[in-house]
Amino acid sequence: MHHFPSVFEVINDLSIEQIEGLLILSSKLKNRQLETNFFANSVPFIANVFLENSTRTKNSFAIAITKLGCRYLDFNAQTSSLKKGESLKETLRTLSCQGIDLCIIRSSTSNILKELKLNPPMKLINGGDGLNEHPTQALLDLFTMKELSLPLDCKKIAIIGDSLHSRVAHSLCQLLPLFGCSVVLIGPPEFLPNSPPNESVTLSNNLEKEMPSIDYIYTLRIQKERHQGQGLDTEKNYHELFGMSMSKLKKHQKFIPVFHPGPANIGVEIQQDIIDSTYYMGYEQVKNSIYMRMAIIITMLQNNDKSVGQFHETILPS
Ligand code: CP
Repeated sequence: MHHFPSVFEVINDLSIEQIEGLLILSSKLKNRQLETNFFANSVPFIANVFLENSTRTKNSFAIAITKLGCRYLDFNAQTSSLKKGESLKETLRTLSCQGIDLCIIRSSTSNILKELKLNPPMKLINGGDGLNEHPTQALLDLFTMKELSLPLDCKKIAIIGDSLHSRVAHSLCQLLPLFGCSVVLIGPPEFLPNSPPNESVTLSNNLEKEMPSIDYIYTLRIQKERHQGQGLDTEKNYHELFGMSMSKLKKHQKFIPVFHPGPANIGVEIQQDIIDSTYYMGYEQVKNSIYMRMAIIITMLQNNDKSVGQFHETILPS
């Protein structure tokens, strides 16, 4: 079995056995079947390095770190030397020299962790990078489905909305097919990729037509901040065609759970009546995020990779 990666950038960094291991560990942590003093002998120092806004990811990592008894640094990007032109790589090397063992990084730049994989200054977790991936969100979504005893094999999930600009959707399209679940990306053409990312994923512009074959719904916010001035103005008819409301759900006989990674724009992709109903799984996702992120931190810190942080060797003249 491969070691758990020291830089966790994308879902494909993990084997299915490692993902299953995270699910088991998350469940044990949630159900208090384990002591959480994993680091009693050497307490790690972990930093949140968030270069883009966040409520859920940043705080759930901070809470996970605290619950594990680790030391926590809330790196403030706004008051840091990043604002003086220092690179992220140099910033992370500096934090490594100051004793930080692990950083969670969020950035609006896609693939920002790729170059750091070659010679990582410390262990790194992707907390969402630009248009690329948000792998810990997808894993906590999977954990939530398992906790709710929702079967995945031979089931179909509809990811509705701006999947082209959603890093969560990109991670889910890699993750859920590993468990036998097919994915249909539904939205207007400007919010869908030109072609599906793999053979378990299909594309559709017609929510009404797809509804009878859908088992689970995952709605997405329109990611305006990532449209880069493309002027995509789909909001006018958007709710009517692709927004979810109780009246749309109730047209169908079966119970269809509705997931949302948050933040939600109420009245656009989802109505308040769903959020207030038993169909809505968004708050379960938030609750479960703590345990999946604890499991990821524990597993990564225990991988015994001695090559991390070897970027500098001081040689004094003899
Ligand atoms: N789901 C998610 O990434 O939310 P935040 O942007 O609030 O972290």
